[in-house]
Amino acid sequence: EEGKIAIAIDGPAAAGKSTVAKLVAKKLTYIYVDTGAMYRALTLKAIKQHVSLESEADLAALLTSTTIELKQSENGQKVYLDQQDVTVDIRSLEVTNNVSYVAKHASVRKDMVKRQQALTEKRGVVMDGRDIGTHVIPDAEVKIFLHATVEERAKRRHEENISKGFNSNIEELKEEIKQRDLIDTKRESAPLIKAEDAVEIDTTSLSIDDVARQILSEALNVLKS
Ligand code: CDP
Ligand code: CDP
Repeated sequence: EEGKIAIAIDGPAAAGKSTVAKLVAKKLTYIYVDTGAMYRALTLKAIKQHVSLESEADLAALLTSTTIELKQSENGQKVYLDQQDVTVDIRSLEVTNNVSYVAKHASVRKDMVKRQQALTEKRGVVMDGRDIGTHVIPDAEVKIFLHATVEERAKRRHEENISKGFNSNIEELKEEIKQRDLIDTKRESAPLIKAEDAVEIDTTSLSIDDVARQILSEALNVLKS
């Protein structure tokens, strides 16, 4: 669509991707696509059905017979797995600790990327993940790579947990984040890496609004040109 662009936001866990992606999408009245939620939904289903997370073929077959939908609602985006609302369930510790093992399989990624690309054809989209700028939307008009120190990222998750009334331990969070980043960075298929043409933002000492403003200014530059 004329006058609309795609904004790809990648980076490691808890760098602030989804928070700022939502803000930017709201400002531009674009759709927001949380690709991590899609990998989480498949992971939830695989765990429930006792499908081995090591078996690429079994996971790929499971995904073939799975529907994953992201729907906007008044209270934020909702995630549906085979028509069931799994918005809360996909954030469990069990899913979080297993999702990277599911996401490393090439045939799982191939199917996911196809689904994600179908959502970007019309542009007017802000998509976040690990491989958006490198594989899902390699021709995105704006590419952003967010990062922050692991200490800061663990602290953010910790504060998020506390504010939701959950128990939380910074050291444990730090280990979980480090482990997931390691698997995501080292995998063979579409590893987490900054796209060459992505704008890198270290968010360690930036507020959410600071980061959103920087991304919006990149977007407005492109839209004006
Ligand atoms: O929000 P958080 O950083 O906890 O993670 P997420 O964005 O929900 O992604 C969960 C996991 O899905 C990541 O750690 C990756 O293993 C995988 N993922 C991926 O491989 N590719 C994407 N485009 C998005 C997520
Ligand atoms: O999507 P991703 O895993 O990259 O991170 P997130 O879930 O958007 O952000 C993790 C937490 O950090 C959220 O609670 C945000 O409010 C917070 N955050 C922050 O404190 N400062 C920023 N510059 C960005 C995010």
